[in-house]
Amino acid sequence: MSARIALLPGDFIGPEVTEVARGALEALAPRFGLDLTFETLPFGGAAIDAHGVPFPDVTREAVRKADAVLLGAVGGPQAHPWNALPREQRVESGLLALRAHLEVFANLRPVAVVPGLESLSPLKSDVAQGTDMLIVRELTGGIYFGSPSEATDAWGVSTMRYERHEVERIARVAFEAAQGRSGRVTSVDKANVLDVSQFWRDVVVGIHETEFPTLTLEHMYVDNAAMQIASQPTQFDVVVTGNLFGDILSDLAAVIPGSLGLLPSASLGGSVGLFEPVHGSAPDIAGQDLANPVGMLLSAAMLLRHGLEAPAAADALESAVHAALADDPTRDLGGTRGTEAFANAVQSALTAESTPA
Ligand code: NAD
Ligand code: IPM
Ligand code: MN
Repeated sequence: MSARIALLPGDFIGPEVTEVARGALEALAPRFGLDLTFETLPFGGAAIDAHGVPFPDVTREAVRKADAVLLGAVGGPQAHPWNALPREQRVESGLLALRAHLEVFANLRPVAVVPGLESLSPLKSDVAQGTDMLIVRELTGGIYFGSPSEATDAWGVSTMRYERHEVERIARVAFEAAQGRSGRVTSVDKANVLDVSQFWRDVVVGIHETEFPTLTLEHMYVDNAAMQIASQPTQFDVVVTGNLFGDILSDLAAVIPGSLGLLPSASLGGSVGLFEPVHGSAPDIAGQDLANPVGMLLSAAMLLRHGLEAPAAADALESAVHAALADDPTRDLGGTRGTEAFANAVQSALTAESTPA
């Protein structure tokens, strides 16, 4: 099978981890009969500097023609001039525009503690052990895209609005994912206060009753969900929630396996999938060989699984990453390896897997 992958390295550690993922994909492709071609495109702050906008037309056209899009991370430190631009010209607006352009409304953020690697968690090992949840975050609606949204000197407003079809389709994604897991969905909202959340809850209940009555649906308020994720993460299987709550809860859940740098994501629902780690561009550690490439490598595995329908290749990449983590993780996890040494370890594990015993 041949596939074209659009690479959007982005800023700061984005290019560092993107190179690692590309190297791993190139190393395993021949074994699985994959003929991969890569096209590197300007995006984020790098694109502002080179083209004046974060999401240039050349990138806009190329991502639609690709078979999958792999994105590093974008953005600069708080004081960077990119953040002084008008909102619509900023890096983060480019990222939202990319998601909207690809119509990827379903953001899957799996959070799993690898058996044997519980000690990497900042939680007590017996609390972290067995954590295996899938956060399904609505990605192209809610308060990120609602109108009106503006600020003056005197006031600011953003609007959390969901249309029925937006909630129905993300609920279906969550229930379908739960069918392949333990069959439990927790819908997270703030229905005790927000009308938009009561609407969300009613629509999710409707989809459950009419289309997935044999699955288990629970509801949880978002403040309690934050507490429960930190104290008893194993109670969750599939968590479905809106754009803003999903953003916050996924960073929280991300540290359960050990570091924000571990968590991958897949954004699906349009014609082309978008794959990116959950972490940002981490300007504080860029250029120092400190970036953990695991979130990016596991995003590349999700690209193989969901974007190219190459599950055996995805399994091989995940196994190689887990083997390298078990052997000696990166420094953010208390190991000794920098980005490059970890990338080399993954390459060795991929080669070892392909060598007959
Ligand atoms: P961040 O995720 O970049 O960093 C938060 C903390 O986690 C930092 O201490 C950082 O060093 C650490 N960290 C993050 N990724 C890591 C990795 N792979 N290995 C080791 N440590 C890692 O969040 P931030 O500092 O709030 O944001 C920085 C910029 O990134 C901002 O411009 C923000 O808007 C942007 N951002 C982009 C994305 C994206 O491109 N998808 C996601 C989140 C934030
Ligand atoms: C994420 C990021 C983005 C978001 C920002 C950078 C726009 O935090 O992918 O989680 O809020 O969705
Ligand atoms: Mn985020």
